[in-house]
Amino acid sequence: MKKNSKTYYITTPLYYVNGNPHIGSAYTTIVADVLARYKRKAGYDVFYLTGTDEHGQKIFESAVKNGQEDDVQGFVDRVADEFKKVWEDLDISYDYFIRTTDKQHEESVKKLWQKLYNKGDIYKGTYKGWYCVSCERYFTEKELEEDQKCPDCGKKTRWVEEENYFFKLSKYQDKLIELYENKEGFVEPDFRKNEMLSRLKGEDLQDLSISRRKESLPWGIELPFDKDHVLYVWVDALLNYITALGYPEDEKNRFEKYWPADVHFIGKEINWFHSVIWPAILLAAGIEPPKKVFAHGWLTVNGDKISKSKGNVVDPVAIAEKYSIDILKYYLLRDIKFGRDGDFSYKKLEQRINSDLANDLGNLLNRTLQMVVQYFEGEIRKPKGEITEYDKDLKTKAENLYLKVDELIDEFNFTDALETIWSFIRRTNKYIDETEPWIHGREENNIRLSRILYNLAESLRIIAVIISPFMENTSIKILTQLGLNPEEILDKGFKELDWGKLKPGTKVQKGEIIFPRIEKDKKNKKKKKESKKMEDKNLIDIEDFSNVELKVATVINVEEIEGADKLYKLQVSLDGEKRTLVAGIKKHYGKNELIDKKVVVVTNLKPATLMGVKSEGMLLAASNKNGLSILTLDKNIEDIEGSKVQ
Ligand code: ME8
Ligand code: MG
Repeated sequence: MKKNSKTYYITTPLYYVNGNPHIGSAYTTIVADVLARYKRKAGYDVFYLTGTDEHGQKIFESAVKNGQEDDVQGFVDRVADEFKKVWEDLDISYDYFIRTTDKQHEESVKKLWQKLYNKGDIYKGTYKGWYCVSCERYFTEKELEEDQKCPDCGKKTRWVEEENYFFKLSKYQDKLIELYENKEGFVEPDFRKNEMLSRLKGEDLQDLSISRRKESLPWGIELPFDKDHVLYVWVDALLNYITALGYPEDEKNRFEKYWPADVHFIGKEINWFHSVIWPAILLAAGIEPPKKVFAHGWLTVNGDKISKSKGNVVDPVAIAEKYSIDILKYYLLRDIKFGRDGDFSYKKLEQRINSDLANDLGNLLNRTLQMVVQYFEGEIRKPKGEITEYDKDLKTKAENLYLKVDELIDEFNFTDALETIWSFIRRTNKYIDETEPWIHGREENNIRLSRILYNLAESLRIIAVIISPFMENTSIKILTQLGLNPEEILDKGFKELDWGKLKPGTKVQKGEIIFPRIEKDKKNKKKKKESKKMEDKNLIDIEDFSNVELKVATVINVEEIEGADKLYKLQVSLDGEKRTLVAGIKKHYGKNELIDKKVVVVTNLKPATLMGVKSEGMLLAASNKNGLSILTLDKNIEDIEGSKVQ
């Protein structure tokens, strides 16, 4: 049992070294990294483990294919280095990187299997069945698809008939069921737990073949009790979660300190290994099972699972280089619900940049610092004067933020945790519109303004601290522009979330735009070409026209406004970004008539509040004494939403 409850042990699967890391392996590693960083900021002593799985048939055959049959070690060394390099490029903060070819791991694995052999949990028998090398997994005839294909990956399996050693998995069936029933949330999400539990209750567990004869597979850990056999790769690799802590010697007292693991993050395809086989081995060895296994979904590209064997890999480092590590992390955690499958899409990633990052967060920083510079020569003043309802509401929301986020993180609900932070960011933007600092900027004594600008800067400081596990570089940029010392603040972690820590007198350092908007290349080129044509003919100056930004939007919701007989409150979607518009069209259109219409909106108007509703743009319409007609598109073109009207 753990002595210190303030420790947190988190692991990723050990990735096979049959190919370089791709966005799929990066996904688990990035999510685990965010969690590790979060827990450190929350004051935990974290141990974050990742590494590589280097034995078995699949790796051996990859080495052979690569012409390194005689130097398999050289082959795995190279690919393991590749993993380390990619994790470094992605700034992954693991505490330990284990390789299953590490001597210490190999020795510990042997000791554990010797122990189970001595205990009588292992016997010799003959294995007959089908084997999928790509999944490193045994199948019975009736589990296979047509033509002996693997039900998991679709590749052809091969027949294996061999004298092997077996682990008495069947002996632990009842104990496993008991474990599931007594241990709340042992496997998550819940539907994954139910999958496992219904198999445990519904079928007789077969004993597990745990060895291969060396003559058919020369690459693996030798069995301590029979040197003609090597261990089956899974029952070697799974043990990493304890050997990495030093088990059984535990010279550094890590096993005692960190085991049982708080959570094993894995993909859903290896849940059986982690949620049934792994706890069975631990039960046999008399070791406490992990607290939780969380099996997440698959990333797909156009609906297809990304995998080394399918060849549709997306390179995470290239994405991080093109956008940034922070953007990649934000996108993966915000857009893909952890636990569910999700499709990787550059389009959606760019929408996130433009809406959440550039519009919401980037603009908030920019607007705030702009005003501090313009009105107060760049200095954050001591907040003075009355405290209004707006001020109180902002402060309360800031103070409640951490509690809400923390609950969601404990459920591994990163998407909603980020959404909660972003709703605070949007609330802070709204505070600017509510308090209208530019009006107070014209006042003689600036008393009211001192409080407004302090509150804005303080909210930004808190935002920078709470987003730091997700996007540390952004956090550093925000704190630096606020004139603070990022290292000092981030070192203190979430203790810095208290309201009021920002010292009056701080001099801001307004700098570069933190998230430049992504403009679509094609449209830019077209715009440039057209503006050139206009100049040539010496007609009107296009710049005057293009100062007005017109875009195509889709109406997604229409509501009445209390007390207004001409106005509707419309919600439109602009390339994924939502906006509210107030339009005087109620007398001319029914509510349902407007839904899904593609309309034209002026998008860069300063917001205006009409009948208490903030309108963030203007709908174009033509009218005369006989009626009113809104501008819609003549043809329905795919993906036209968000396009400029020019
Ligand atoms: O299974 N979407 O290694 P592996 C999401 N060595 N996650 C993905 C993914 C995708 N498209 N593709 C891969 C093994 N992953 C064993 C594990 S553990 C003791 C041994 C992630 O290289 C996900 O975490 O096939 C998945 O479970 C893991 O990579 C599989 O990596
Ligand atoms: Mg795999």
